[in-house]
Amino acid sequence: MNDLDLAGLVPECLGRLSAYVPPGGDYPVRLDANEYPHPPDPAIQEEIRRALESVPLNRYPDPASRALRSAFADRFGCPVEAIMAGNGSDELISLLIWTLRGGQGGGPPAIVVHTPTFAMYRLTALAAGYEVVEVPLGGDLEPDMEAALKAIREKRPNIVFLSNPNNPTGTFYSREQVDAMARATRGLVVVDEAYGDYSGEASWVPESASRGNLAVLRTLSKVGGAALRCGFLVAPAGLLREVNKIRPPFNLSRHTQVAGEIFLRHYDLVGPRVAAVVRERDRLARELEKSGGRVFPSRGNFFLMQCDGREEELSRFLQEGGIVVKFLARLPVTGDALRITAGAPEENDLLIRRFREFLSEGGTDAKG
Ligand SMILES: Cc1ncc(COP(=O)(O)O)c(C=O)c1O
Repeated sequence: MNDLDLAGLVPECLGRLSAYVPPGGDYPVRLDANEYPHPPDPAIQEEIRRALESVPLNRYPDPASRALRSAFADRFGCPVEAIMAGNGSDELISLLIWTLRGGQGGGPPAIVVHTPTFAMYRLTALAAGYEVVEVPLGGDLEPDMEAALKAIREKRPNIVFLSNPNNPTGTFYSREQVDAMARATRGLVVVDEAYGDYSGEASWVPESASRGNLAVLRTLSKVGGAALRCGFLVAPAGLLREVNKIRPPFNLSRHTQVAGEIFLRHYDLVGPRVAAVVRERDRLARELEKSGGRVFPSRGNFFLMQCDGREEELSRFLQEGGIVVKFLARLPVTGDALRITAGAPEENDLLIRRFREFLSEGGTDAKG
């Protein structure tokens, strides 16, 4: 038996990275993962429970997730052939990156991202040997289009990732801005609509199949189905054919397919629920701002907040009182900040109360 020589087997680009550690722990109030704060409607839960009872556990699921994709096509208005289902949109991001890593005439493949943005684009691209070209958002967290177009023309990226709205800043890219970036590149522009329902704007899905170099990602994770791990890629047929070559054949469990399909068939319920979260987001932001926080406007179900350089201290104070928000150290453009997900009204009330206590106590007494 020989020792495993990881240094010789793991490529250098992977050796330099550390794993993305999603939030864990058992806290009563979770405002750190941009989830939807309530379980699905009881009638939907019951329908899912009943459907799952008859899943044949000894059989593989449908490798093409046909019923699930068809429910997505009906809901979002695109051809079923233009859709690939993924084990969360994380899997689809990864599949796109691994598929499109050709050298385009010599150099390493590249992605362009506007920073700060969702960490998985960078992490996955670096692991796959890409160069990651980062274009900072403007000081007001609006897209810096001049810098983005310049980077796209000079670096000729394989993929431009746009989280729209952008996690963690809540920035929204207009149709004109997305169009301009798609026109400037010969690579793929991915519009990641993980928070699309919260923006109140039209989805790119109906157009994407016919738009040459545009693809769209959606997920059930942010509208009440995070446990399902169910995401969708809508893209031109030629690209999907290539991605399919590396997609694990049974990437979605039958449970996810069954539950996801039911979730999509009742998607009408999502609109009013999302609208209620948006109202809560705005109320929470107003109250925190009134109390002394600096809140950045957002089109998602979350927002960034700063608090006189005391963000890390505030995050610890809240956590000791059972409330978890996401502390983001040294973000590009803003520096340290907290990303706060809008929760249920009573969770938001608790956060507002604890924030006021933090400010009045000077943040020294975390108990009580
Ligand atoms: C912008 C963005 N895209 C994709 C994802 C991943 O979503 P999923 O749960 O579908 O893998 C997230 C999760 O936080 C996200 O913020």
